[in-house]
Amino acid sequence: MEYSHNGKLITFEGCEGVGKSTQIRLLAEYLERRGIDALFTREPGGTALGERVRELLKDESAEMFPETELLLFEAARCENTRRVIVPALEAGRLVVVDRYIDSTTAYQSFGRGLDRRDVEYLNRYATGGVRIDLTIFLDAPPFANTSRSASDRMELAGRAFHDRVYAGYRAIGGECGRFEFISTREDKYATAREIVAALEKHGVLT
Ligand code: TMP
Repeated sequence: MEYSHNGKLITFEGCEGVGKSTQIRLLAEYLERRGIDALFTREPGGTALGERVRELLKDESAEMFPETELLLFEAARCENTRRVIVPALEAGRLVVVDRYIDSTTAYQSFGRGLDRRDVEYLNRYATGGVRIDLTIFLDAPPFANTSRSASDRMELAGRAFHDRVYAGYRAIGGECGRFEFISTREDKYATAREIVAALEKHGVLT
């Protein structure tokens, strides 16, 4: 399936505790100040079903095989893509997603060790091949910009796991032309300005 639409799809990616939520909030505030309409959503989540799947995936007491985990992330994505993201793109809107298909390749393939072709096939299956215009990758090692300790099932997966995820992101980003690597800075506003500049450079904002 190929969608045709006039919207723009931006994804945010990065390891745990690199300041992604803060940067997404600063971008939302910036767009609001400029009067630019945008839809913000997150994965796993974004729909009633997706938020329930998110709780399961984060629940420390939920034991599951890596394959089950992969399918749950894809199930939440399938719903969010068809119910929220694609309709907004078809309405010509700017859509910003907190984590999308690259999270699955980084975490479930590089992190958990699942076959990358399987993961990429399911990414396409869940999204129907919707095209991403730009991926903002916050390039910092796991937990680099946070003082809070790991608290959920994914965060508690261990340092070696999260280091593989980081290496995975850098590999994925090097292979595809839509990644913008943003090194996080101490000054969060400086990082936010770099993100806006990247959106302008790629024609997402004018
Ligand atoms: P967060 O977005 O609040 O950080 O929580 C989402 C968690 O789920 C985070 O640990 C990354 C992980 N994740 C995957 O492992 N695979 C995925 O496909 C997605 C979207 C997230």
